[in-house]
Amino acid sequence: MLRKRIEIKNKNIVLIGLMGSGKSSTGLALAKLLKRKVFSTDQMIEQEQGKSIAQIFEGQGEAHFRQLEQHLVKDLSKKKGIVIDCGGGVFIQEENRKVLKQSGVVIYLSAGVETLYDRIKTRTHRPLLNVDDPLKKLKDLLKERDKFYQEADLTFQTDGKTPLDVAEEILKVLEK
Ligand code: S3P
Repeated sequence: MLRKRIEIKNKNIVLIGLMGSGKSSTGLALAKLLKRKVFSTDQMIEQEQGKSIAQIFEGQGEAHFRQLEQHLVKDLSKKKGIVIDCGGGVFIQEENRKVLKQSGVVIYLSAGVETLYDRIKTRTHRPLLNVDDPLKKLKDLLKERDKFYQEADLTFQTDGKTPLDVAEEILKVLEK
């Protein structure tokens, strides 16, 4: 696919997509290749709160977690020239979409639900997937969220690719 190159000097690179789409690992690969800092919203919330995301969901509820996300996203969006690895639900909130779009290039990492499921099935730290049928949950979430994810500036398919493959593909389109 032929794509116009996008200038990213000083702009943030914002990775969005469902759980298992490879945002964290691709974010690390991109940061290394570009010599930039990477910030993971999930990791930062866990550090700041001194609790796992599962504990926050259980103790204070999902709505509280979404508020913590929104505060953090607002702060991160003010930084320049960083990579932001967004938790899967970040781009669902309108305010988050607005500030993230203003802060840089938003990249949707997409994958088939079977691929997503394959990547997450042995992990237990994601409260939304601690259900009887996590594959169905992923399908439902994709149906609900795809319209928001589609607002990204660029979309990359990650099925069958390593994080480094995806990062290199992204960099072919971004002008440093
Ligand atoms: C969530 C995704 C998770 C984490 C939380 C909720 C979501 O992040 O923020 O469990 O709503 O999709 P990852 O996408 O990094 O797994």
